[in-house]
Amino acid sequence: MMRLAVSLYICVLVSVSLRAQQPVAPPQSGNALPGVRTGAQIFEAACATCHARDGRGTPQPATGFDVPIRDFTDCTASAEPSPDWFAVVHEGGPVRALDRHMPAFGEALTADDIEKVVDHLRTFCAEREAWPIGDLNFPRAFFTEKAFPENETVLTTSVSTKGDKAIGNELVYEHRLGARNQLEVIVPIDFQQQANGQSWLKGIGDLAFALRRTFLASASSGTVAAAGAEMILPTGNVDRGLGNGHTVIEPFAMWGQALPRDSYFQMHGGIEIPIDGDATKEAYLRTAIGTTFAQDRGFGRAWSPQVEVLWARPFGEQSEWDVVPQLQVSLSKLQHVLLAGGVRVPLTQREERHPQVLVYFLWDWFDGGLFSFWK
Ligand code: HEC
Repeated sequence: MMRLAVSLYICVLVSVSLRAQQPVAPPQSGNALPGVRTGAQIFEAACATCHARDGRGTPQPATGFDVPIRDFTDCTASAEPSPDWFAVVHEGGPVRALDRHMPAFGEALTADDIEKVVDHLRTFCAEREAWPIGDLNFPRAFFTEKAFPENETVLTTSVSTKGDKAIGNELVYEHRLGARNQLEVIVPIDFQQQANGQSWLKGIGDLAFALRRTFLASASSGTVAAAGAEMILPTGNVDRGLGNGHTVIEPFAMWGQALPRDSYFQMHGGIEIPIDGDATKEAYLRTAIGTTFAQDRGFGRAWSPQVEVLWARPFGEQSEWDVVPQLQVSLSKLQHVLLAGGVRVPLTQREERHPQVLVYFLWDWFDGGLFSFWK
């Protein structure tokens, strides 16, 4: 089993390093406006008619479009990853299900020009030191939490493949507060099959709340780091196998690092400290490595394979190791609705711990309605 885990890890490492050797995408296209120009000059010449010189967007009556144009001085726009903006400028609005009045500049501007003008869009946010850039928002793994502050709702379902039949569901609601803080509410909803094999017990497990702050976000080095704490309340009915009956405080920290060619490494460690009763503390460290491929010349649907390696150690007991190969895919055109599937494979204590199949459904509600921006 250890060998399977190691080969999976190596597979992902190899695909990450192979991608690192690919030529710089995308290819240079036509250059209708020759000469060396700054991002600001390109913006004035090609974009300002609609987006306005100050980046706030030309008022609707003047453009004649039905859609309001994004105000780039609103720093929440910083959460958009540059490749998404590159795609919109290169291919036009419809590539992300945005308005068709946003023209495609793939013929008129070189890749270099588009990068410059996208960099220029970033300068409209007056507090850009405070607002982490969306390029540091790496794909979400099942267990290794992200350091980037998010606005999303995630429903994760896990099913054990052996032993007692149980389906675990976890609803996580994440809400960004200002530039760098995030509030999180976690609601576990469990289903346990009863001994008679007929009926299922269901109920809410231990509710949890977490606060975190992204204290480091460096676009130049591709590094993002956060720290915070979670509080788990014993709201579940222990007699029915829901929850663990303790209040737990869990300080944690996470770190993410961009690697060449859309690859990344993420790490998340913490300690679970029960503050009542005599339950044991537990330390954990979770790591994830992955890469992203996009279809349609790099502008379309995004696929992110990743592998997590999980370590946990209840104080005074043996370490538990798991490996979690998984794949995330974007469903909506705007890429604000995502699906992921994976398997958690225990490497230790395999008599009592069984593999679990995992699925999550993620909706970045800040970007748009659940049913908007699909085509
Ligand atoms: C003819 C008007 C027009 C021109 C010219 C134009 N845009 Fe746009 N742009 C739009 C419209 C309309 C939208 C989409 C608004 C929507 O659907 O939310 C848009 C959307 C965008 C977005 C996506 C913003 C988001 O919601 O994340 C980016 C990035 C962008 N434009 C950049 C540029 C750049 C850079 C240029 C110049 C090279 C440019 N635009 C030129 C009209 C224009």
